[in-house]
Amino acid sequence: MTGTMNLRSRAHLLGCVLGLRSLALVLWGIPGARALDNGLAMTPTMGWLHWERFMCNTDCEEDPDSCVSEKLFMQMADLMDSEGWRDVGYEYLCIDDCWMAPQRDSKGRLQADPKRFPGGIRRLADYVHGKGLKLGIYADVGKLTCAGFPGSYGYYDIDAKTFADWGVDLLKFDGCHFDTLVDLADGYKYMSLALNRTGRSIVYSCEWPLYMMPFRKHMPNYTEVREYCNHWRNFADIYDAWQSVKSVLDWTSSNQEKIVDAAGPGGWNDPDMLVIGNFGLSWDQQITQMALWAIMAAPLFMSNDLRQISPQAKALLQDKDVIAINQDPLGKQGYRLRKEDNIEVWERPLSDFAWAVAMVNLQEIGGPRFHTISLASLGGGLACLPACLITELLPVKGKLGFYEWTSSLKLRINPTGTVLLRLDRTN
Ligand SMILES: *[C@@H]1O[C@H](CO)[C@@H](O)[C@H](O)[C@H]1NC(C)=O
Ligand SMILES: *[C@@H]1O[C@H](CO)[C@@H](O)[C@H](O)[C@H]1NC(C)=O
Repeated sequence: MTGTMNLRSRAHLLGCVLGLRSLALVLWGIPGARALDNGLAMTPTMGWLHWERFMCNTDCEEDPDSCVSEKLFMQMADLMDSEGWRDVGYEYLCIDDCWMAPQRDSKGRLQADPKRFPGGIRRLADYVHGKGLKLGIYADVGKLTCAGFPGSYGYYDIDAKTFADWGVDLLKFDGCHFDTLVDLADGYKYMSLALNRTGRSIVYSCEWPLYMMPFRKHMPNYTEVREYCNHWRNFADIYDAWQSVKSVLDWTSSNQEKIVDAAGPGGWNDPDMLVIGNFGLSWDQQITQMALWAIMAAPLFMSNDLRQISPQAKALLQDKDVIAINQDPLGKQGYRLRKEDNIEVWERPLSDFAWAVAMVNLQEIGGPRFHTISLASLGGGLACLPACLITELLPVKGKLGFYEWTSSLKLRINPTGTVLLRLDRTN
């Protein structure tokens, strides 16, 4: 916090002197919004989530390798352990919808589908913990889950206790099939308190703002959301296409004045899963997703098949320098600084007065384009004052060298691709 204040007062001073227009963006006030007090998600949660890649595939006879089953999660746990995923930070192995049996048990508790999870969730959790990982599970605030399995409405305490008894470490709480907006809000809040009462540390992943969005008159109160949730989805489910990634970025930049300040240690905006390593994104588009999810301080939940992933996609997802930006302890979300001629410039303040800067080329015709950026325009004028060391992280790693505040930098960006830089100030 001291660092932030220091940066702000310096920014203010410089802004007065130089009258920099971009300064307004750096100075969105943070009224010290309180985060959910469970000590978790001090940096964005990292892990794997089955939904985008495996959806609601329950047909283990026809498709035994890709159905939602304990076997799938045990295989992923093995690989997260053996292939270096856990070691770079991907810690939470998360189950999404369609794990449940169609009915609760005789005591009203949720139960896993006995055919697909013959050992039950408790044993799966033990297995996952044995690999040094954590287990995430899924439920719904309403009467049914989105895929029609039993919802938690009326069962919040029982379900929280069941998850804690099983040794679950994260709950993704969906928002399908609620009756009123009051039920929706009360349900999300109640479950947060019910999880707390179990005494077990459980990351609470909400979709509360997303389900409020259709009701335009009721904008989410992010101060309140942050008090109850460790992260929260704002926008539609991601899918394996550039169109989808682009729409997430569009929505985020269009709403940045409302959402960026809500993020911080303990609570994050969640733009949904990383689809890197699947079928729909070109290499440049995968780079764009990784770079921008780092700028947005997004939870990093991969949804892909770790049994079949290209070495290239794996290297991108395991890039320690990019992950370090995502996980920066200052915990401030980045934002779009400007858009001109189909080039977007995004920036994110980091600890130790460093900055991350991403330049995205959104022009989908033609070849790579050059873009020149004046260093004095970055970080409210402070990113490179009086000089900085610039390192390119993506698409190619390398030190670009020392630059002075007055200099500019010319970069080449592929169509739908991104150049991600790190700027470290020097004296
Ligand atoms: C429950 O909430 C209290 C007070 O907000 C907090 O101190 C405690 O650590 C929380 N416990 C868990 C398990 O999240
Ligand atoms: C938003 O929630 C906070 C915390 O619960 C509350 O103090 C504030 O008054 C709310 N804001 C609005 C506009 O309702």
